[in-house]
Amino acid sequence: MKTVIANGWVVEPEAQSVVQTDVLIEDDRIVAVGDVGAVADCRIDATGCYVTPGLVDIHVHFRDPGFPEKETIASGARAAAAGGITSVVCMPNTYPTVDEPGVVEYVLRTAAEQGIVRVHTTASITKGLKGKEITEMPALAKAGAVTFTDDGKSVMDPVILLEAFKWAARLGLPITSHCEDHNLVRAGAINRGEVSKALGDVGIPSLAEELVVARDILFAEHTGARLHLQHVTTAGGVQLIREAKARGVRVTGEATPHHFSVTDQLVLTQGALAKVNPPLRTQADVDAVVAGLQDGTLDVIATDHAPHTWDEKQRGLQQAPFGFVGLETSVGMTFTHLVHTGKLSVFDAIKKMTVVPAQIMGLPLPRLHPGAVADITVINPNLEWEVDTARFYTRAKHSPLAGTRLRGKAVQTFVGGRWIYSHERGILE
Ligand code: DOR
Repeated sequence: MKTVIANGWVVEPEAQSVVQTDVLIEDDRIVAVGDVGAVADCRIDATGCYVTPGLVDIHVHFRDPGFPEKETIASGARAAAAGGITSVVCMPNTYPTVDEPGVVEYVLRTAAEQGIVRVHTTASITKGLKGKEITEMPALAKAGAVTFTDDGKSVMDPVILLEAFKWAARLGLPITSHCEDHNLVRAGAINRGEVSKALGDVGIPSLAEELVVARDILFAEHTGARLHLQHVTTAGGVQLIREAKARGVRVTGEATPHHFSVTDQLVLTQGALAKVNPPLRTQADVDAVVAGLQDGTLDVIATDHAPHTWDEKQRGLQQAPFGFVGLETSVGMTFTHLVHTGKLSVFDAIKKMTVVPAQIMGLPLPRLHPGAVADITVINPNLEWEVDTARFYTRAKHSPLAGTRLRGKAVQTFVGGRWIYSHERGILE
């Protein structure tokens, strides 16, 4: 079976090259990039679209094992495919926690059976994410975990954390860090500022993030381990990473679409649907995150796709869980807020969603050249659409972005040569 993706703008983000041409796929591989004529069994017209390496999202919550009512690997993988994402890295805050090799194996096995995209997993730094006892990191790495994180919270005990960084350095895997000091977060539900004051919430101060960013950078510097900082949201956090990079610390940073585009004002209209951890911040913070993406301080765009049930999110600002979904809006948010505004070139945006995150997590690099595995995303940069949560593939059919108009959308997704999503036909089973 030969498939041609015809006449698209083929993007090689590292080479900063874009050429209008065809990509020919045979079985699981790209066999030609160039004018291929009429040799194919299946022709997909990509005129006016970017043809990019498959997108890689290194920060998702698929909730399996433990919380299938929120998401399963099957539903999460379909949401990824519909968002143009061909590889994901799952977080370990499942039940049981991904803190033993058997759970890593369960996630990878289930993904192989049910996932239509490539699903990788993290493992936790501490058992049960309790922050008390370190996991068997070498055994977890051997089972296939790509990084270690207690995502959702920070490991507060510096003795345990130092040991974890030392193990990570020995294993050659990164520590991936959610940066919030629990003692400073206290009962806050949203950013500490005007909005929290207006709503009577104690608020989560920027210092909660900055303290842990600074601390973890010191651990990375001290041990030589690689450190990946998740969802950076504060101007101070961005600046700390900038300075650390300048003195050669092996640190990378991530921004989510919600943190580079919307502020805590959204909580005033969306309430707990916009409650997320770390919280939406101020316009000055959003501007700093964008500046971080622009100057390379922030290397990666990842969603922190965090599905919860509708009922849970209706419990009010204090009681509702943190988090909302992002896989199916990530490309639209990135193009609308970064590419079409001229803040980020299409090359930089695609690089931060493909090769760079893959490199950080040690995954195969998605590439568009003959012989490469055919993980491919086709993006229509000018497709205007409205976020309709009823059409989501994730189980969490709600979002604070519902009803938002976006420009730019993934319209075709291929994994290993298999056509798995089309904008017109939906998921192709
Ligand atoms: O808002 C969030 N939700 N942030 C996290 O870091 C964890 C996530 C979750 O698991 O729901």
